[in-house]
Amino acid sequence: MDRKTVLVSGGAGYIGSHVTVELNEAGYEVIIADNFSNCDKTNYNGVCAICGKQFPLIEMDFCDLNAVRKLFSENKIDAVIHFAAFKAVGESVAEPLKYYTNNLNSFLNILQVSKEKGCNVLFSSSATVYGEPDSLPVNEKSERKPCTSPYGNSKQICEDFLRDCVNAYPQIKGIALRYFNPIGAHPSALIGELPRGVPQNLVPYITQTAIGKRECLSIFGNDYPTEDGTCLRDYIDIVDLAKVHVCAVSRMLKGEMKQPYEIFNVGTGRPLSVLELVTTFEKVNGLKLNYKIAPRRDGDVCAVWCDPSLAEKELGWKASRSIEDTLRSAWQWERRLAGK
Ligand code: WQD
Repeated sequence: MDRKTVLVSGGAGYIGSHVTVELNEAGYEVIIADNFSNCDKTNYNGVCAICGKQFPLIEMDFCDLNAVRKLFSENKIDAVIHFAAFKAVGESVAEPLKYYTNNLNSFLNILQVSKEKGCNVLFSSSATVYGEPDSLPVNEKSERKPCTSPYGNSKQICEDFLRDCVNAYPQIKGIALRYFNPIGAHPSALIGELPRGVPQNLVPYITQTAIGKRECLSIFGNDYPTEDGTCLRDYIDIVDLAKVHVCAVSRMLKGEMKQPYEIFNVGTGRPLSVLELVTTFEKVNGLKLNYKIAPRRDGDVCAVWCDPSLAEKELGWKASRSIEDTLRSAWQWERRLAGK
């Protein structure tokens, strides 16, 4: 049978590398494109080791329209999954032009060429588009709130770009996946999250504290109106999250979409507090974490978790890895990075 080819932009990054493994396992040809602006070759090499093959690797910048055109002309691409973007919320507030220039232009170029070639587009969006929700859990019909960061804004704008292009150009079909909080690593510990500098996200901060790279985890606020006073989030395992991309790509390529533009939440539907997550990490890995309660972090919402039932109904996908296994995998990955 003719194998379909999926282009993964940002395929050497945290999510892109896990998605590549799952696409390969499902029988797709994968082309990885990355400019390595925010990662090195660790995850690319890990993906090749897990799959036992070398994936085509194109080093390029999606902001270069000619390079995107060349890539699509030289390869028959059936679908593109777009991850190549900057993603640090705080940095985006300090450097909005960097974020808008990169995140919007790269996606516009993908849409332009997808229109020229007739290609399916899967966009990696974020729960951040919901802001502080009026009611929980959020479903896909919940209102998108004004974003508090240029990063979040860029996700909202790209969703709108995709919707408008799909409406205008029948040769493009699009799916936006709104991720909640992706965490963990591949069970092989060959790929995982590689934050640059001081981690902004909770789980890499925890693992780096546990390994001794950071002295103490600050828990941002214990006076929120939740049971233990810390924030609630919907932590989604990275391998589970990777698998939903296979379901979404297959739905697009098999012509099973109910509408030409579709949106799905990607989460577990189970809220977990920061303290619960820390305690579970300690328990499953048999260690004690040095942490303290610190003031709230600017811009944090108190609670957000999703209703993932649409993805289950339409894509046949449901998160299945336990939080215990996910937190074990995060620790294994950190230990491997440290050579321990
Ligand atoms: C989770 C919880 C913190 C660090 C952000 C983006 C979102 C998505 C994922 C993708 C919060 C608390 C954290 C720490 C802590 N981006 N925390 N101490 O803020 O929910 O979502 O990352 O690229 O768009 O907004 O994730 O992991 O930063 O925080 O107490 O050192 O952990 O306050 O309650 P967040 P996070």
